[in-house]
Amino acid sequence: MRRLRRKLKNSARMSYIAETESPSRGGVLHRYGDRIPDVGPNTPLISLGEGDTPLVRSRRLHDQVGCRELYFKLEMCNPTGSFKDRGMVVAVAKALESESKALLCASTGNTSASAAAYAARCGLDAYVLVPHGNIARGKLAQAVAHGARILDVRGNFDDALRLARLISEQHPVALVNSVNPDRLEGQKTAAFEIVDTLGDAPDLLFIPVGNAGNITAYWRGFVEYYRAEIATKKPRMMGWQAEGAAPIVIGKPVDNPQSVASAIRIGNPASWRLAEAARDESGGEINAVSDDEIIEAYRLLAREEGIFCEPASAACVAGLLKYARNPGTGHSSLSTQIIVCVITGHGLKDPETALGIDSEVREVEPNIEAVVEAMGLTT
Ligand code: F0G
Repeated sequence: MRRLRRKLKNSARMSYIAETESPSRGGVLHRYGDRIPDVGPNTPLISLGEGDTPLVRSRRLHDQVGCRELYFKLEMCNPTGSFKDRGMVVAVAKALESESKALLCASTGNTSASAAAYAARCGLDAYVLVPHGNIARGKLAQAVAHGARILDVRGNFDDALRLARLISEQHPVALVNSVNPDRLEGQKTAAFEIVDTLGDAPDLLFIPVGNAGNITAYWRGFVEYYRAEIATKKPRMMGWQAEGAAPIVIGKPVDNPQSVASAIRIGNPASWRLAEAARDESGGEINAVSDDEIIEAYRLLAREEGIFCEPASAACVAGLLKYARNPGTGHSSLSTQIIVCVITGHGLKDPETALGIDSEVREVEPNIEAVVEAMGLTT
């Protein structure tokens, strides 16, 4: 009897393994494929174990903000260290289904790292167009390691994206930027996970905005769960751009976007109108934070919460701290609100920024007296 039970258990497990390449975490396609319209019986359920990322409660910033509950959705825990993997897995599965042989994207770094990884795994070529001198080293290292063909475009992200779109119209390559609808369909699953974990939608979602795909995708996810009556409410979408790259905030494209947060250094976002719709339909806001505010939040997250993210991710926490100081009139007090900040990418991607702030490395002689003295332990 026991043996039979074990056999049944094993065969259930075997079929689970056969259905997904990520038996431990399931993967976005396996977990949520039935909520992604384009995923059908012929879509390969590829996975690198993306999704199912931690939702971690704040220990300290929570007090500073004065809200009821504050959580960080650690999208930096995806396989290539950013939220991009959720959408990339869908876009690449669809590319495989349509027998594409190559992927193409323009990127400030994370999209290219993700495209390169999934392409390598699936035996596809990856071409990535990156803005010259404006991509964090760790992200470039990922694309190099996975064997992508990297084109360093003498221009900014917006130039690179314009070129990628043109090339994909003329050549047999699958464009995997967030203008590809499969990307947003995959990224919306992060909103599903938040509701699945909390039991309902939060009151406010704070999120960085660059090309504006992710805020669009989260909104879609929350709306779909609300319509399916899995959530009883929808959050206000609170998007944050960097001051030197804030086209949606100022209402016109920025020719030469600048920010310490290289991931969101974008002057003409592809999903501009969709992000505005998410903002307006949710009663939310899209505002800007300065580089100083971003770095302050980046340090606080690392030192007070143990979360080492990249500067672009810290932009939404900077936005939350700013908003908490001056929440505006006509909205409920933060003390009743449940808030989620989306931590989009890992700090290790951009070691230069971390080391450039205030690196506390001291050189010492290799003897105990010198080390103890340098540790400040002498009396
Ligand atoms: N945070 C990180 C870490 C990002 O890499 C990006 C975008 C964003 C936030 C903004 O998300 O574009 O959907 O509004 N990175 C893109 C890239 C542009 O090429 O990797 P968005």
